[in-house]
This record gives sequence, C-alpha cells and structure tokens, in this order.
Amino acid sequence: MPMITLTPSGKSFEAASGASLLSALLAAGEPIAHKCDGKAECGSCHIFVQEGRKSLSKIQRTENEKLDSIVGVGSKSRLACQAILGTEDITVELLGFASGR
Ligand code: FES
Repeated sequence: MPMITLTPSGKSFEAASGASLLSALLAAGEPIAHKCDGKAECGSCHIFVQEGRKSLSKIQRTENEKLDSIVGVGSKSRLACQAILGTEDITVELLGFASGR
C-alpha cells in the first residue's frame, strides 16, 4: 500500500493501490474540493505531485485538456480524481486555493 505524504501539513497516511488520489484524500479527511465528483470537468481537485509521479496512472486526454484550461498548472500538476495510485509512495502538495471549498 502506498503512503501518501501531504505538504505543507506533513500529514501522511496509507492508501489503497488502484484508488484515485481524490478518494484517498477524502477518506483521510482532507477537505479537497471536487465539484464535478471526479469527472475531470471542474478542475477543483488540482494538486501538485511533488514526489512519486511515475507511480500514478498516466495522464489521459480528458485530464490533459482540463489541466490546459487551469491557471497555475505546472509539470507536477494532476487532477486528484484522475490520478490512480500505484504501489509507490507519493508526496502531494495541496493547493491553498483549491482545498477546503
Ligand atoms: S473533481 Fe472535478 S476535475 Fe476532479
């Protein structure tokens, strides 16, 4: 089971391989926004994956197109609802403007 570490809080927890990053974050009690309920339509679950990106599922076209429309996207950006956890540990930066709403 991969371990997810959050920045800036430093919190870490185990999650199930094959689960989406969004569902793992919600299960851990993180108030991450997910306005379209995981359909890659809203972009509100945008996060940065600081470490372990290769362990996540590859970015598909729908996610790529949505990311293209979001301000502040970088090479570490993912939509948490579209990133499926692999077996390696990852470090995720929760964005202040996207979480808690
Ligand atoms: S929840 Fe809407 S894009 Fe992820």
